[in-house]
Amino acid sequence: MLKGKHIVLGITGGIAAYKSVMLLRLLVKAGAEVQVVMTPAAKEFVTPVTFSSLSGKPVVSEFFTANTGEWHSHVDLGIWADLMVVAPATASTIGKMANGIADNMLVTTYLSAKEDVMVAPAMDLDMWKHPSTQRNIHQLQKDGVIIVSPGSGELASGLEGKGRMAEPQEIFSEIEDFFRKRQDFEGLKALVTAGPTYENIDPVRFIGNYSSGKMGFELARELSDRGAEVYLITGPVSLETPQSDKIKRIDVTSAQEMYEKATKFFPDCNISIFAAAVADYAPEKTAEKKMKRENAEEMVIRLKRNPDIASCLGAQKNNQLTIGFALETDNEITNAQKKLESKNLDLIVLNSLNDPEAGFMKDTNKIKILYRDGSIENYDPKTKREVAKDIIDAVLRYKRK
Ligand code: C5P
Repeated sequence: MLKGKHIVLGITGGIAAYKSVMLLRLLVKAGAEVQVVMTPAAKEFVTPVTFSSLSGKPVVSEFFTANTGEWHSHVDLGIWADLMVVAPATASTIGKMANGIADNMLVTTYLSAKEDVMVAPAMDLDMWKHPSTQRNIHQLQKDGVIIVSPGSGELASGLEGKGRMAEPQEIFSEIEDFFRKRQDFEGLKALVTAGPTYENIDPVRFIGNYSSGKMGFELARELSDRGAEVYLITGPVSLETPQSDKIKRIDVTSAQEMYEKATKFFPDCNISIFAAAVADYAPEKTAEKKMKRENAEEMVIRLKRNPDIASCLGAQKNNQLTIGFALETDNEITNAQKKLESKNLDLIVLNSLNDPEAGFMKDTNKIKILYRDGSIENYDPKTKREVAKDIIDAVLRYKRK
């Protein structure tokens, strides 16, 4: 469940910080990658060395490393995280989070967090009961933050009552539940094509394109995170497979190979997303030996058409959903709508090469999603990881209609 998940663990200055050592241990044992962020006060309770040793990553606490001047990007951390957990969360940090007072790395990361946030409050019973704290907790809940209620019992002050942080095992279970609930693709199988194809001219040369495969890999990651089993059929890319037991990666080189593998797995899949940039043509013949330079000024290579994977499978489908991509330089909407029809797709994701934030080799993308009923959704420029989430959300909405 937690394998490969990115979790930011925020630790604030309360005595319950010692319990977060256990929480970190449980998360790491379950296979999560954890980045600890501490407030300056938290370091008075437990040293960063304890957390960095257990997480295998240096603790982030300051905006800059004092001796090198290296900047720690709260924005990158916010994007990296699948979940941010603040445990323990003091009354002060809860107040800052509720009001956007970003005077330390932890609250700044919170304000940059794109995904969900969970908070485990820890304080004295009077502080917990105080109208100010309760107001801030309600505000956080309104902002979508998940609150792990504090328990009752003996408090560090010697008083008895509500305010002590939930036990590490309880917080860990809440985290597991959180990821389990997101399994809205559980039981489904998906096929994703990704990357370019290389069409060999001879043993050392090929016709290819600049596709990096990033979009397809992010789609595979998002689908598997949400419970789907994924066949990721990819052309030559220099990307690592997203960490997940649910992704089966199949490496191919040419369009013909991609077509054969996609045809093999398609009947088994509920959803197919064609994110690969497949070469339309391949050399009619691949030379067995490296072609020599001739004296002639020109050289002609005859090309033959490659199979259109999306079209062929679109023509065969029963209840399966098929999703394509269109990368256009002109008449983009009309061209994308034509492809939606001709390839018998359910929806098509359009990205325009005219847009500086969209396209090949980039980490960002700006998309429109077009549907068979003529409706169009416009999205803001986002990272490919966020775009993948938007696409999969759109697929889910479509499926449920
Ligand atoms: O026709 P065009 O190449 O622009 O269509 C793009 C869409 O069709 C993409 O989803 C792409 O993955 C898919 N495609 C395919 N096989 C091809 C060509 C394109 O699956 N031979």
